[in-house]
Amino acid sequence: MTHPSLQSVNGLNGHSNRGCRIIAVVNQKGGVGKTTTAVNLATAMAACGKRVLLIDADPQGNASTGLGVPRAERGAGCYELMFDGLAIEDASRPTIIPNLSIITSSADLAGAEIQLVTTERREFRMKEALERGTEEYDVVLIDCPPSLNLITLNALVAAYSLLVPLQVEFYALEGMTSLLQTVEAVRARFNPELEIQGVVLTMYDKRNGLSEAVAHDVRAFFGDRVYETVIPRNVRVSEAPSHGKPVLLYDLKSSGARAYVHLASEVLKREFGAMDIRAKAVGE
Ligand SMILES: Nc1ncnc2c1ncn2[C@@H]1O[C@H](COP(=O)(O)OP(=O)(O)OP(=O)(O)O)[C@@H](O)[C@H]1O
Ligand SMILES: [Mg+2]
Repeated sequence: MTHPSLQSVNGLNGHSNRGCRIIAVVNQKGGVGKTTTAVNLATAMAACGKRVLLIDADPQGNASTGLGVPRAERGAGCYELMFDGLAIEDASRPTIIPNLSIITSSADLAGAEIQLVTTERREFRMKEALERGTEEYDVVLIDCPPSLNLITLNALVAAYSLLVPLQVEFYALEGMTSLLQTVEAVRARFNPELEIQGVVLTMYDKRNGLSEAVAHDVRAFFGDRVYETVIPRNVRVSEAPSHGKPVLLYDLKSSGARAYVHLASEVLKREFGAMDIRAKAVGE
């Protein structure tokens, strides 16, 4: 089932800042590693010297927490960006990671889904907000909520490409048909340039025999859109958010941190072509 909003035809706008890559991290399934991937990929890309903006478009606000911005300190953020015409420079704030800024999830974002239903050009709020200027950034990553709702639709309309984290589990591919149908509908009606840049396997457990079989099925389904890098299940990855840090900062030597550095190099290659992307130690 595609979102009902896709059944109406709207005008198309060209992307204004071709230099800045806008990537939405999407999977309507909950708990598959979207936020973990968004936070750590953003950090690894920043460590590679890219100027990165992470937008926390999920009312749960986990990316904001994971980057050390507690709820009480959030103030204006994604809601104000989409509804109040707030400029990116006013909605964003620096993080503990050099080169990485964040637009946090704000308290009012929880009501945004309902508000969007009656908003004019409701699919274009995020896109129009980003058109107000992303020149300061090389990459914008949008962490989406676990739903194909209007907030996610806004991210799909604003993005050039999608990154889909898939948790390596028996039901990994469940829901992919609705996601692919939604992407097709968005391409047809709102954003013809949208493409799935890549699929990343998360929480891979090499001791579990099922992991290999599931990874094989996912590669058979998505072909070379699946990144070679697989993110292992790693306790350091799950501990890091409670310290308000990406795992790259919490434990750079952990298998999870190293995997995200590799993933960043693959993503950057696909987005920008071959380049020197050796990651420097974060926070130096
Ligand atoms: N590689 C990993 N190893 C161990 N734990 C992980 C790993 N990746 C994610 N997790 C843990 O799994 C849980 C879900 O991850 P995460 O919040 O990134 O998923 P999500 O898709 O953003 O969830 P939601 O749909 O609720 O937004 C978190 O507790 C996270 O710490
Ligand atoms: Mg999340």
